[in-house]
Amino acid sequence: MALVNTAEMFKKAYAGGYAIGAFNVNNMEIVQGITEAAIMEKAPVILQVSKGARAYAKHVYLVKLVEAALQDAKDSGVDLPIALHLDHGPDFETCKSCIDGGFTSVMIDGSHLPLAENIEQTRRVVEYAHKYNVTVEAELGRLAGVEDDVKVQADDALYTDPNEVEEFVHSTGVDSLAIAIGTSHGAYKFKGEPHLRFDILEEVSRRLPGFPIVLHGASSVMPEYVEMINKYGGSMPGAQGVPEDMLRKAASMAVCKINVDSDLRLAMTGVIRKEFAEHPSEFDPRAYLKPARLALRDMVRHKIVHVMGCNGKA
Ligand code: G3H
Ligand code: 13P
Ligand code: ZN
Repeated sequence: MALVNTAEMFKKAYAGGYAIGAFNVNNMEIVQGITEAAIMEKAPVILQVSKGARAYAKHVYLVKLVEAALQDAKDSGVDLPIALHLDHGPDFETCKSCIDGGFTSVMIDGSHLPLAENIEQTRRVVEYAHKYNVTVEAELGRLAGVEDDVKVQADDALYTDPNEVEEFVHSTGVDSLAIAIGTSHGAYKFKGEPHLRFDILEEVSRRLPGFPIVLHGASSVMPEYVEMINKYGGSMPGAQGVPEDMLRKAASMAVCKINVDSDLRLAMTGVIRKEFAEHPSEFDPRAYLKPARLALRDMVRHKIVHVMGCNGKA
């Protein structure tokens, strides 16, 4: 199997009441950890690349790593559906560059634009992408947190207005829609009790029957890794994510794609801090990257089974 777009994955996920995990990749160890987890759990997976990831690792390295992941799965005897997705594409040119350069799915993020401009930009990307069988995700509503160089303040975040979704989807032809229901990017998602607006998700899915919804900012900020970071010299007081039961509930509804980046960062950072503290004279990067990759793999396996519910769906 070649890299796939998200159409078939989402169709099955919607019907089956589960979600596909979309994990951000920035280097080889991250790609390997996620891929090994997906192979072990026979789970379809989306490997996603941000503008920042392309700037860090270069487009070509990331594409080749994801192609290697596909080959690795084949060699392991699993025909794994893998989509290579652009996360938070900032403009038409970036989306075009990814479509031309081997991605099978792109997000055009016009959530900061006035509705008419978001529609126009999304429509243009869809028109181009569909010629190449590439699926497109767009966003309505704004999440608080950090997205590349844009920092959205909590009071500037806006829940998605369900009144806008039908016009948006029908006039753009977009394949999936990210909505804002109270999640946010990064490791500090809630000041008090976590709360998501499931009423908005319900209303959106009532207006768009069968249409795949995407949840950004969906890391759980797993306490064991926050504790590990704090124990070994880090400082992340008050870090808090989305409880797993809320994510499970979203996955059983119209949410077909759950985005995770922060949890990968926390697992890697926690383990590397621990390794540094416990083996101060070690200076071979493999000595700390190997356990970091292993922790990341096990964390992704846990998410596939207990959050996404997509184990065995490959
Ligand atoms: O939504 C943002 C993702 O976590 C990507 O983060 O832009 O720092 O690569 P990044
Ligand atoms: P987290 O920061 O919660 O991992 O969200 C990642 C994300 O939404 C990537 O687009
Ligand atoms: Zn996001």
